[in-house]
Amino acid sequence: MNRANYLGFGLIVGLAAMGGAVMAKTPEGGGDGGKSGEAKRHGPAKKPAIDPEAREAARRDFADIAAVLLSPRCRNCHPAGDRPLQRDDGVPHRMNISRRSPEAGLECTACHRERNAPFAGGPPGVPDWHMPSKELPMVFEGRGPRALCEQLNDPDRTGGRSPGDLVEHVRHDRLVAWAWQPGAGRSKPPIPFDAFVKAVERWAAAGAPCPHE
Ligand code: HEC
Ligand code: HEC
Repeated sequence: MNRANYLGFGLIVGLAAMGGAVMAKTPEGGGDGGKSGEAKRHGPAKKPAIDPEAREAARRDFADIAAVLLSPRCRNCHPAGDRPLQRDDGVPHRMNISRRSPEAGLECTACHRERNAPFAGGPPGVPDWHMPSKELPMVFEGRGPRALCEQLNDPDRTGGRSPGDLVEHVRHDRLVAWAWQPGAGRSKPPIPFDAFVKAVERWAAAGAPCPHE
């Protein structure tokens, strides 16, 4: 951590911890609760409100989270361009389907019904199948873990969703849940749904830290 980041972090920690527990750990505080207030301003490294180990663990959790986001089932609906992708190798959707198809009168739900088609290669389905809008494309394709993490922390690119809101999204969204019931011939994300939701919960609770890489 460089010095500027360190000081910024310390400020947040200081505000959040309100003195007490933090002060007791500093030499100046001497375990007396740091009544002087001096140690707060001049003391050495303190125990932060969010434990550094929890933050490191959350960074590792984000590697698992990114592996899910970049897995074919999620990536195919979160493409870099206007066309959704298909199959594990992510080829562009056949029949020239794109974001513009619904504007031209061909809704996704004309083919993607409320359930998966019961044969391999048929259209998968859950109610309200669609992709993110052009204005808020929520691109996952081609982004590394750090770039994905920064995007999910940027309200301009999440439509104002906070990391805490993301927990609710992944826990309850039917399109997310579909990835673990994708229909015949499609792979599932690399970790179970519950493990994914728990990883997002821990990551958000630890302040949504991003991988160093
Ligand atoms: C004319 C029918 C049709 C329309 C309209 C259509 N799709 Fe599809 N879509 C399919 C079929 C069939 C598949 C299955 C292809 C396969 O698995 O080989 C598919 C597969 C997909 C997949 C890949 C799922 C996966 O991970 O395997 C995505 C994503 C997708 N469609 C998104 C959309 C979106 C978004 C729209 C609307 C903009 C849309 N589709 C419109 C027929 C359609
Ligand atoms: C059928 C297409 C589709 C599939 C499949 C899909 N998503 Fe999405 N996803 C969307 C749409 C559409 C939105 C925007 C929803 C909204 O604004 O409410 C979205 C939004 C999100 C968001 C919110 C992003 C933000 O910046 O706020 C996350 C996170 C997300 N999806 C994760 C996933 C994960 C994880 C998977 C796979 C397990 C997945 N999605 C599969 C269509 C899809």
